[in-house]
Amino acid sequence: MDRDKLLSVKELTKVFRVGSLLFKKDLIAVNKVSFDIDKKEIFTLAGESGSGKSTFARMLLGLIKPTYGTILYKGIDITRIKSAKERLWFTKEVQPIFQDPFETFSPLNKVETYLYDTAINYGIAKSREDVYKIVEEKLNAVGLSLGEIQGRYPHELSGGQLQRVSIARALITEASLLVADEPVSMIDASLRMSIVNLFKELKEKFGLSVLYITHDLATAYYISDRIGVMLRGSIVELGPVEKVLSEPLHPYTQILKQSVPDPNPERQWEEDIQLSSFDIREFTITGCKFSSRCPSVMDICKEKEPNNISINGRVVKCHLYI
Ligand SMILES: Nc1ncnc2c1ncn2[C@@H]1O[C@H](COP(=O)(O)OP(=O)(O)OP(=O)(O)O)[C@@H](O)[C@H]1O
Ligand SMILES: [Mg+2]
Repeated sequence: MDRDKLLSVKELTKVFRVGSLLFKKDLIAVNKVSFDIDKKEIFTLAGESGSGKSTFARMLLGLIKPTYGTILYKGIDITRIKSAKERLWFTKEVQPIFQDPFETFSPLNKVETYLYDTAINYGIAKSREDVYKIVEEKLNAVGLSLGEIQGRYPHELSGGQLQRVSIARALITEASLLVADEPVSMIDASLRMSIVNLFKELKEKFGLSVLYITHDLATAYYISDRIGVMLRGSIVELGPVEKVLSEPLHPYTQILKQSVPDPNPERQWEEDIQLSSFDIREFTITGCKFSSRCPSVMDICKEKEPNNISINGRVVKCHLYI
């Protein structure tokens, strides 16, 4: 099957220098991560706390510089963007959806101002009438209307409504890729599904792609096309979401198997499926980062980092499959 690539990340790596003055060490937060996102695809990055998901997203959004690797977006290496014109183009194309919608909006401004400014500053609206027309149209696409938000400040809207407004903003710039880092974790549980469903709807309607970052495998299973499971900076398994979560190959993903959601979406919110936090000793492990926790550990796992192995359209980083 021909893939229509939107984003292509190769060997993306971020090393942080951490520790006190005398005791400095390198922390590899993201370790040679490579994958593509297609046009009209929802790709999930899942993994326990500290596995490097947000660091990856911040590199992708140009908020921090990679230590190594390339990020090609529509064929352009965005780690090398220098001109203001190209930067503006990129910020239009790739829009973030943050975890806490209340931090995204200034408490001093009416929410609608944010949308009007986006339409004007990005040169989308050509006239005053245009501004209102575009804002109304995009709000409608996320299940809101201008009447509902007009005159209101962020604290006068719910977290779910504000998150919809953030998504409407991305639609105003006609973004092709949304980078959504835990976009529903701070939203009332009863509203989460409707927000993640919106991603799916917008994918179908506008051909949008989404990098969806989450701890929550239930929503990942329900909305994504493919998933990459991150462990200590590396993707240890990558492939179509149904395959990875229902017949996992990597022992780490297998441990997550019991948390694969019920296909009935109503049931998915009964329990909050969370990945555990990593073991701090894993920083110093030389071979596979999962070896200290792995039920199938072999001698080689403690000595050598496994390579990526391709198996039936899936990639798994594990010595069991060599
Ligand atoms: N600016 C920084 N300086 C030093 N270390 C950092 C920095 N940002 C992140 N880290 C470290 O990099 C690792 C990956 O962090 P990151 O925030 O990317 O994880 P995450 O997968 O998003 O976790 P969570 O699920 O808790 O959001 C962690 O060990 C973190 O402490
Ligand atoms: Mg994070």
